Amino acid sequence: MTQRIYDIAVIAGDGIGKEVMPEGIRVLEASARRHGFTLRQKWHDFAHCDYYARRGRMMPENWKEEIGKPAAIFFGAVGWPDIVPDHISLWGSLLQFRREYDQYVNLRPVKLMEGVPCPLAGRKPGDIDFWVIRENTEGEYSAIGGRMFEGTEREMVMQETVMTRKGVDRILKFAFDLARTRPRKLVTSATKSNGIAITMPYWDERVAEMASSYPDVSWNKFHIDILTANFVLKPQIFDVVVGSNLFGDILSDLGPACAGTIGIAPSGNINPEGEHPSLFEPVHGSAPDIAGQNLANPIGQIWSAAMMLDHLGEKQAAADIMRAIEMVLKEPSLRTRDLGGSADTQTCGKAIAVLLS
Ligand code: NAI
Ligand code: MG
Repeated sequence: MTQRIYDIAVIAGDGIGKEVMPEGIRVLEASARRHGFTLRQKWHDFAHCDYYARRGRMMPENWKEEIGKPAAIFFGAVGWPDIVPDHISLWGSLLQFRREYDQYVNLRPVKLMEGVPCPLAGRKPGDIDFWVIRENTEGEYSAIGGRMFEGTEREMVMQETVMTRKGVDRILKFAFDLARTRPRKLVTSATKSNGIAITMPYWDERVAEMASSYPDVSWNKFHIDILTANFVLKPQIFDVVVGSNLFGDILSDLGPACAGTIGIAPSGNINPEGEHPSLFEPVHGSAPDIAGQNLANPIGQIWSAAMMLDHLGEKQAAADIMRAIEMVLKEPSLRTRDLGGSADTQTCGKAIAVLLS
């Protein structure tokens, strides 16, 4: 049998990133022992605000060489607004990775688990279980536009939405491929073709075209305004939801929020072709308000580890981590304080790792 060896770049970042990362690694190592693969970790001491304080930049100029060609990047959280303004810390690190590595899929699961209080009334585990897929490279977040007549009465600003056939088709393909692996096989597209009358009808056209290659997958579309309402009112109707950069940005925060705490939500920034490494990270940030107190919930980081293993092809290992997370969430003494439990970060992380050994 060939040996399965994966090179992983590890970047803990700032604040609670430094506390939850060791728990993510603990679980990955337990999983590797159990499933017989090897993770070769390379920890990088940049992309955090102390580095910026010393060097005046978030990463070394040759950061790409330093990172090399890992199978994936495992990331904690970046940001420490007292030292570095957020736009500098984020643009100087995470957003560089997303761009330079063409991580055009932003993927987030939305799943209500037992032991996690749901902000939506009357929902129970099993009711909410879907994925949000956000286009991560173009759309509304373009650099085309500008300001004219600044400071005068004619002052004007404009910023153009950019949709390319390549950019739209590849995100839709990812959505349909993912739906195909799921029991319900349903894609929901976010649109607004009644108001945004050029780019959104184009998006809709491409959805219909892509759908014709997937006769086994059903699909529907909603305007973004009623779609957000339905996330709250009827979350059970969704399976795979795909949106442009802006719509996806909103949905990918709203979805996990509908399923409970930010402390457990994971995400992937994915380059599906594998030409560049994909990056897996919790949805939350560095949480300066609780950093350094061993209070952070490590499950967002650990669930991100499961997504990373799934991406690397270690499907069984990923499923086992998910099962362990679900078991630990049921137990108040193993849950962290944000979930009304009494465990600290390490107690929760260790409990998940033990279930894998
Ligand atoms: P945040 O996600 O860091 O914190 C929001 C609230 O959620 C805080 O009250 C925090 O204590 C709580 N929280 C977050 N993660 C938690 C966990 N694992 N366990 C328990 N409670 C948790 O967002 P905030 O405060 O807006 O941003 C703080 C810094 O993080 C900023 O510098 C921001 O730019 C950065 N940030 C970085 C992200 C990333 O690295 N991908 C994402 C979001 C924010
Ligand atoms: Mg967002």
